[in-house]
Amino acid sequence: MNKIHTAIWNTALPYQDKRDDAGHAFITLEFAKQLVDLEQGNKDVVLPAIILHDTGWSQLSRAEWQVVFSSEKTTEDEMTVRLRHQEEGVKIARQVLHQVNYPEHLIVDILEIIAEHDTRQGFISKDEGLVRDADKLWRFSKTGFDADVERFNFAPQSLHDRIHPQIASDGFFYCETSRELAYLELQRRQREFTRAALAHQNGTNYAQVV
Ligand SMILES: [Fe+2]
Ligand SMILES: [Fe+2]
Repeated sequence: MNKIHTAIWNTALPYQDKRDDAGHAFITLEFAKQLVDLEQGNKDVVLPAIILHDTGWSQLSRAEWQVVFSSEKTTEDEMTVRLRHQEEGVKIARQVLHQVNYPEHLIVDILEIIAEHDTRQGFISKDEGLVRDADKLWRFSKTGFDADVERFNFAPQSLHDRIHPQIASDGFFYCETSRELAYLELQRRQREFTRAALAHQNGTNYAQVV
């Protein structure tokens, strides 16, 4: 990352991972860096957009953001909080980008991506697609996968079977590179939880069966 992207990262830190999702900002940024290189996206749009995309959760109370994870939520309830985190995220992103004197024409593109990153149907540009793909890749990463196992009390294999079909589903990922990364990540998750189960069965520790 160049100096100004690092300044954006540092300025946004107090607003990150506010939904009990430690590592979300960092891991989605790492996916975005890979995607932007492999797909020749615009780093000056994609990197600030992914860094700032979920800062809006910091402005919602725990009770508000927990709606997203509640089994009793209605579609309307969930949409209301999702829209709010996007609106709040746009405000924080604008403030952070002005603080580091980011070029105005890039700010427009970045805010447009953040404004509907969770609710938009279809993709409006390559950069927008790459940001949303990096965000979705979180659930296939070790940290994101383990967080969902814990949060929803899923058996790892059921979570695997639930998210595997999403990879190829229509409109989920923008590009093939993201699909390949997701399959790779999920294979790693399967190896990890299979080994862990085996180790548990044999009464050995994880390291001995690698
Ligand atoms: Fe979001
Ligand atoms: Fe996100």
